[in-house]
Amino acid sequence: MSAAPRPEAGFSLMAESWLDAVVRVEQAAYSHPWSRGNFQDSLRAGYQAQVLAAGDTVLGYFIAMRGVDEVHLLNLTVAPAMQRQGWARVMLDALGLWSRGQGAQWLWLEVRQSNQRARDVYRAHGFQEVGTRKRYYPAVGDQREDAVVMTLALDRGAA
Ligand SMILES: CC(C)(COP(=O)(O)OP(=O)(O)OC[C@H]1O[C@@H](n2cnc3c(N)ncnc32)[C@H](O)[C@@H]1OP(=O)(O)O)[C@@H](O)C(=O)NCCC(=O)NCCS
Repeated sequence: MSAAPRPEAGFSLMAESWLDAVVRVEQAAYSHPWSRGNFQDSLRAGYQAQVLAAGDTVLGYFIAMRGVDEVHLLNLTVAPAMQRQGWARVMLDALGLWSRGQGAQWLWLEVRQSNQRARDVYRAHGFQEVGTRKRYYPAVGDQREDAVVMTLALDRGAA
């Protein structure tokens, strides 16, 4: 039986009108999801926030913050039902293009130490693990979890 054809998808700037759907995906994808307020703060701060959608269906989204010569990826999420279809890669490609267009040299991010799937996808995309941030994330109860810091050099030719 052939896999369901991938829906036609396109990028839209994230706006308040997308937040109901985005927050639903966020709550389905994370043990400690961002709040609606976190998304609104990101939009108010003018962060690069893109929704990848097929019609009104949110496939995924990313939020990134521009620094001096770097871009910090703050959130990259694919809707659970849409995972393992290549959408994270599509969003990482789009983020790489935008970051280079901004003249950035580097992309960097933090990822939970336990999030092996995300670490594998980022590594396959060319990111390198360069450090850890101790007790960075909330975990079960009052426990904390370390973050792995990953970077990707954005030279004109790569990514
Ligand atoms: C982590 C997450 C974003 C991955 O999304 P996904 O939909 O499974 O990712 P994709 O289908 O696009 O996977 C990318 C594939 O392309 C590969 N890939 C990515 N970039 C590549 C590149 N430049 N060259 C070759 N291969 C590449 C990856 O290895 C992966 O291959 P695989 O599926 O055979 O393992 C998704 O699981 C998710 O949203 N999880 C919940 C939220 C989360 O953890 N977000 C990250 C927080 S830091």
